[in-house]
Amino acid sequence: MNFKNLREFIEYLENKNELVRIKTPVSSELEITEIADRQVKRGGPALFFEQVDDSQIPVAINLFASPKRMSWALGAESFEEITERIQSKIPKNFPVSFKEKIKSLLKLKAFADIKPKEVKTAPCQEVVFTGEEINLFKYPILKCWPNDGGRFITLPLVITKDPKTGIQNMGMYRMQVYDEKTTGMHWFTHHTGAAHYRENSAQGKRTEAVVVLGGDPAVIYSATAPLPPGFDELLFAGLLRDKAVEVVKAKTVDLKVPAEAEIILEGYVEPDEIKPEGPFGDHTGYYSPIDKYPVFHLTGITQRKNPIYPATIVGKPPMEDCYMGKATERIFILGIKTLFPEIVDINMPAEGVFHNCIIVSINKQYPRHAFKIMHGIWGTGQLMFSKIIVVVDADVNVQNLSEVAWKVFNNIDPKRDLLITEGPIDSLDHSSPTPLYGSKLGIDATKKWKEEGHPREWPEEIKMDQSIKDLVDKKWKEYGF
Ligand SMILES: Cc1cc2nc3c(=O)[nH]c(=O)nc-3n(C[C@H](O)[C@H](O)[C@H](O)COP(=O)(O)O)c2cc1C
Repeated sequence: MNFKNLREFIEYLENKNELVRIKTPVSSELEITEIADRQVKRGGPALFFEQVDDSQIPVAINLFASPKRMSWALGAESFEEITERIQSKIPKNFPVSFKEKIKSLLKLKAFADIKPKEVKTAPCQEVVFTGEEINLFKYPILKCWPNDGGRFITLPLVITKDPKTGIQNMGMYRMQVYDEKTTGMHWFTHHTGAAHYRENSAQGKRTEAVVVLGGDPAVIYSATAPLPPGFDELLFAGLLRDKAVEVVKAKTVDLKVPAEAEIILEGYVEPDEIKPEGPFGDHTGYYSPIDKYPVFHLTGITQRKNPIYPATIVGKPPMEDCYMGKATERIFILGIKTLFPEIVDINMPAEGVFHNCIIVSINKQYPRHAFKIMHGIWGTGQLMFSKIIVVVDADVNVQNLSEVAWKVFNNIDPKRDLLITEGPIDSLDHSSPTPLYGSKLGIDATKKWKEEGHPREWPEEIKMDQSIKDLVDKKWKEYGF
């Protein structure tokens, strides 16, 4: 099942009893957060608030906040199914180099069919506001946490264009509302939108941008996917949903937007205009402090006649974004295993908010193989932000945190098995004395070999005989349990 737009997905969730409509009036200031937070922590349904403040526009939240809903969003019953679907499109003799891979991918017949398809008219442009009609205050934009610096658009898909290649990029960067016509543009320095902005600014040019709210769920997810620059996220969305995303020309800027979106904010960012942004209750579970970011000026708003405002809340994990991150982990393991065939599995636990901890199991083949994997991960795309990398042997189930902790606590000699290095860190990291870069820890919790400086015999792991296990299985009821 693939979805044409957000409303089709909402209807699907409702039919599956995975979405609750709330008719009681609620406030966009903090009240929705408290309800959404409680529901996500107890594995509750997606929420559709019909009456928010005195706005005519309903708010949909927690749409992706479970493994089941996240998989359905991408047209599958499980993350594994999505991975298999992508794998089936890629020929076996595919080039290994990343650059070559992207080039070849774009040439594949299967990919030609899922490239964004331009249409002339679109639901997202049923109503057009320009000039004095532009007013962000009409939308039920949330104030998420008590000490937030204001109201934030929390599920925005920001589209910009590479000034050299003309290829569009779409990333999710939160936006603080300053007034009716301007917002912050919170793209981190390492992300592609910021790179486009730097290139344009160096030539004294504005960066045109559109902010997409809603659209089919694969489009929304794709804005968060860690794709390399030059890979259009709308093409990736087409790959995920097995069907091209329809796009239409924006009304006031030279960009193409998903035709089935709910609301589109069109505008630009001026070079060198920066303004304080934040604080904002972030996905680390802490407030990210006030910092300076560019300003987004609106030149137009287009929308459906009766739009739905999509939102999310980040905060102490697990939150909705953890499920989006889990989808990324499961989908991108395919690419990671191609680069590092010795990797068996990975787990990025929600508590580490993804970039802070990655647990990796490997088929160890040579001394200090674990260190090679750590360096490889620190040198790969957005995995470069990984603060702690734990490496275990192939037989350890990395999805079982108790098993991993047992191996780490018992298998390491701290002096020998910890690797401390430095590199870029996530922009939200508050633990490092310096912003944007800091120290990193690798923990080699694999069984140690003599060649790795472990002259003693490694002890045998306790395991019960299979015949006894089978016997006890057979007699289990007889014991009276
Ligand atoms: C809910 C949510 C909020 C996010 N907020 C931001 C943000 O404010 N700024 C940012 O740079 N990245 C943010 N991200 C992460 C990026 O969207 C993500 O890393 C994406 O891959 C960046 O794409 P890009 O490399 O094309 O820029 C957020 C992700 C999620 C799921």
